[in-house]
Amino acid sequence: MSQTVVIDPVTRIEGHAKISIFLDDVGEVSNARFHVVEYRGFEKFCEGRPMWEMAGITARICGICPVSHLLAAAKTGDKILGVNIPIAAEKLRRLMNLAQITQSHALSFFHLSSPDFLLGWDSDPAKRNVFGLMEADKELARGGIRLRQFGQTIIELLGAKKIHAAWTVPGGVRSPLTEEKIAWIRDRLPESMETIENALALFKKLLLDELKDEIEIFGKFPSLFMGLVADNGDWEHYGGAIRVKDSEGNIVADKLSEDNYQDFIGEAVEPWSYLKFPYYKPLGYEKGMYRVGPLARLNICDRFGTPKADAELAEFRDRAGGMATSSFFYHYARLIEILACLEKIGDLIDDPDLLSSRIRAKAGVNNLEAVGVSEAPRGTLFHHYNVDENGLIEKVNLIIATGNNNLAMNKTVTQIAQNYIHNGDVSEGFFNRVEAGIRNFDPCLSCSTHAIGQMPWW
Ligand code: NI
Ligand code: MG
Repeated sequence: MSQTVVIDPVTRIEGHAKISIFLDDVGEVSNARFHVVEYRGFEKFCEGRPMWEMAGITARICGICPVSHLLAAAKTGDKILGVNIPIAAEKLRRLMNLAQITQSHALSFFHLSSPDFLLGWDSDPAKRNVFGLMEADKELARGGIRLRQFGQTIIELLGAKKIHAAWTVPGGVRSPLTEEKIAWIRDRLPESMETIENALALFKKLLLDELKDEIEIFGKFPSLFMGLVADNGDWEHYGGAIRVKDSEGNIVADKLSEDNYQDFIGEAVEPWSYLKFPYYKPLGYEKGMYRVGPLARLNICDRFGTPKADAELAEFRDRAGGMATSSFFYHYARLIEILACLEKIGDLIDDPDLLSSRIRAKAGVNNLEAVGVSEAPRGTLFHHYNVDENGLIEKVNLIIATGNNNLAMNKTVTQIAQNYIHNGDVSEGFFNRVEAGIRNFDPCLSCSTHAIGQMPWW
């Protein structure tokens, strides 16, 4: 008789989700689904608000990656004003995003995922968390917590708040840095660098032995990879244009503008999840499955442009055999991105522009429709607004980083289930492993959840 195995809730992720696994008559996995069960509705209730408020409002979507919404909203606002923002404002926005990627990735690795790697997949669930990690390896846990704090504090130094700082505005940012604040960043940077270098060394050692099987089973399959790259092909998180690569490393599309995202991204809806299913339109649903985020960004870029991260990128590609198609390598990519962010923060704080008071271009409403894009920790984020002559919002569409990975997350869950469940035998060890498959992607569900059963209405 066919049966369904349900995991509810999925633990150590941001937001609320459950997993259903469907077994056929002989107890083999026929299909699996990752359901997002929470609903937010920001696209609807932003209607009627002044577009100047959108950064502050949409930052409230998320407590982990509010900076991503600040940036995408501000970039959309820049285009509605029709201004080029001052160079100092761009550098300050970049600094905040580098700090956010650092703190968010540190949370994912040290707090949420490393207990599995270091304490074991089958260790006592009551201790398989950051507190258990503190008992087992106090230095690593402490380093991880302080690394996250480093990123959070830079965000606070810039925006006056760790979370939901409405510091970016259409046209620029509200305030520059001071010598004193830069000195704090400079002071704490070496410790952060040491923490991430130690974590990388440890993780690479585990990859050779303890985590070898996970590389093959935890979501390894071909897909497209999408994200921003700089004009010269460098790793990018704020500017540049969109590149799409396939699993063989071929560039499928390059220099795509976010302005035309509806030409290359479709948003499908399934009745069993509040999370939409974006896909690469030229290949259709579901063949157009793509992955975004750290794994994709490392796969699509030519180089980081900083020495330590570039050396790690070369080794990463060596271990992956070229393009990394295992979703388990998201963890590895995340650590390398933290290293790159710290190097780039180190370069940026020497830039005198960070102290400039020319940080905001002022203008009225000059365009009634605009799309802004940025790389959130979890991948490419789009904000799309229509406004009236007074800048009041008429329509909003958001395509959120985690949503882009929805097809790949479902495929990962199915692959892990098919490897661990046979003859209807569901062992205890399976549950943590299938949840861990989702944790590869570090989903941010309160960010990405949308309406059920209907397409975007334009
Ligand atoms: Ni988020
Ligand atoms: Mg949307």
